[in-house]
Amino acid sequence: MSGKPRLFMTREIPFPATEKIKELFQVEVWPEYRPPTKEELVSRAKGAKALVTLLEDKITCDVIESLLPDLRIIAQYAVGFDNIDLNCATRHGVYVTNTPEVLTDATADLTWALILAVTRRVVEADRFVRDGNWKRSGAAWHPTMMLGYDLKGKVLGILGAGRIGRAVAKRALGFDMKIIYYNRHRVPEIEAMGARYVDLETLFRESDILTIHTPLTPETQNLVNESRLRLMKRTAFIINTARGKIIDLNALYRALKEGWIAGAGLDVFPEEPLDPSHPITTLPNVVLAPHIGSATYETRARMADVVYQNLEAFVRGQVPPTLVNKEVVKVRPPGL
Ligand code: NAP
Ligand code: GLV
Ligand code: GLV
Repeated sequence: MSGKPRLFMTREIPFPATEKIKELFQVEVWPEYRPPTKEELVSRAKGAKALVTLLEDKITCDVIESLLPDLRIIAQYAVGFDNIDLNCATRHGVYVTNTPEVLTDATADLTWALILAVTRRVVEADRFVRDGNWKRSGAAWHPTMMLGYDLKGKVLGILGAGRIGRAVAKRALGFDMKIIYYNRHRVPEIEAMGARYVDLETLFRESDILTIHTPLTPETQNLVNESRLRLMKRTAFIINTARGKIIDLNALYRALKEGWIAGAGLDVFPEEPLDPSHPITTLPNVVLAPHIGSATYETRARMADVVYQNLEAFVRGQVPPTLVNKEVVKVRPPGL
């Protein structure tokens, strides 16, 4: 046991792969539900060769540098890695891995749950029943009760046609929607599903449902701003299961409040957890979720498997299968 290299895990990941990680490393787990503060993380992770991180752990350059020279690999339990200073890690020869692919379908499903929930007012309708307003209305069924919008024949706009964007598009075919998309580069796989490539302005103008699937980067931060929201149809909906900072939330609040667009479904927010006193929580035409895109039993277990596979490859001196900072191999070969 004492001969094993140390690994610090910033939260308990209670899936079978964690037991296999413990065969490779002497694992210390942050015991609390909340994340460690920066100081707690640095002091607990001192001397660790490996970190297993979550998306709210801020792995800044000073965190990385204070864990050198021991730290060799950061295995993120998420596909997004905007919380990690990648350039700094690469410069110091620290490998960074993520968990792509295995969470694509779960996140695409949640995206569709939000699309259906907000266009058909499912959450509002649930409250209508529970609050007794249905009973009080005196009618079981009324021609104008809780009207939403059809999806068939409508335009689904996809911003970011990567793994999740394409999985969302695939599901749209079953709803007989037309698909348009914008991506930095054209994507043949989505065009093979019949999706049409458009510029960003056309995407905002023509989408009936606009769904966001880019990573958070300096280019995508606040990409959905007031001027772009003003291009959208008054009957359009916006869905975000990517990262909260891609949307200017105050501009979105005004768009929803003032009726520039019809509604929104949000799984992610600029500040998480979202403060429940944020005015967006007062609007009936939004469905809110607490960052649960990948939150299924099966997917979270598979994400742990990918973390294990990356660590195991690295320990064996192999390039981890889902290495993010591929240039790091030129700085230092894999292995402890
Ligand atoms: P991915 O396969 O890398 O897809 C991202 C796509 O965005 C790529 O096609 C990329 O295009 C495109 N893109 C990047 N920057 C762009 C820009 N400035 N303008 C236009 N397009 C741009 O990633 P993924 O696996 O689909 O995941 C996408 C994101 O979803 C993750 O980064 C993560 O933040 C988020 N996510 C959230 C949850 C959740 O719980 N809500 C779960 C999983 C993932 P290129 O071809 O040019 O690279
Ligand atoms: C979740 O948001 C992820 O990036 O995996
Ligand atoms: C609705 O329940 C219908 O029968 O149309």
